[in-house]
Amino acid sequence: MCMGMLCTDAGQASEIKKLPTPVISGGMPVMDAINKRASGRLYDKSRPVDDQTLSEILWVAWGMNTGGKRTIATARNQQNMKLYVLTPEAVWFYNAPENQLEKVLDKNLIPLTATQEFVNDAPVHLLFAAKDDKWGRCHVGSAYQNVYLYATSKGLATVIRGLIDAEALTKELGLTDGEKVIAHQTVGWPEK
Ligand SMILES: Cc1cc2nc3c(=O)[nH]c(=O)nc-3n(C[C@H](O)[C@H](O)[C@H](O)COP(=O)(O)O)c2cc1C
Repeated sequence: MCMGMLCTDAGQASEIKKLPTPVISGGMPVMDAINKRASGRLYDKSRPVDDQTLSEILWVAWGMNTGGKRTIATARNQQNMKLYVLTPEAVWFYNAPENQLEKVLDKNLIPLTATQEFVNDAPVHLLFAAKDDKWGRCHVGSAYQNVYLYATSKGLATVIRGLIDAEALTKELGLTDGEKVIAHQTVGWPEK
């Protein structure tokens, strides 16, 4: 996968971070998770989200399930959504089939999402990009709902956010062909 400034000539990402295998069974019964789902904006700044949990967040959003399908449906099975993780140092692309993060940009893009103060307290920043057509936003909606349900099951807090500089983020990521940044989702352990 190759996007942004850090692609080599061979089209490889400059740095790869293998994710732990997500645990894809158990958790809260789905009806309970739906019943308890809510947005959470207050995060415990002292408690990072470990890689195992991050791997599971990414998997529920956009992973491959054991039936060889994505964890969400896509129109005509196009599977054309993109999911990034923003950190203060870099932007990482989630490569689901390989269960890994691939660094695509050595830049902090969190400020372009931080129109609300609480955003800066969140340890996990997901950025969803998709075709800005009839279905792209539906795919993002399916993914962020899965994250809400997983977060509810795990006791994490999360909120999906549209108050971002989507145009600047789209430009920074070098997205083309009608793809745009659609939404940002913060996740973290709730403030005690
Ligand atoms: C498409 C969309 C965009 C949203 N954008 C923001 C946002 O930018 N900032 C924010 O704090 N909440 C945002 N929210 C969360 C809503 O404010 C929240 O879902 C609503 O208040 C209902 O609360 P609940 O999720 O706890 O039921 C957004 C929700 C959706 C579905």
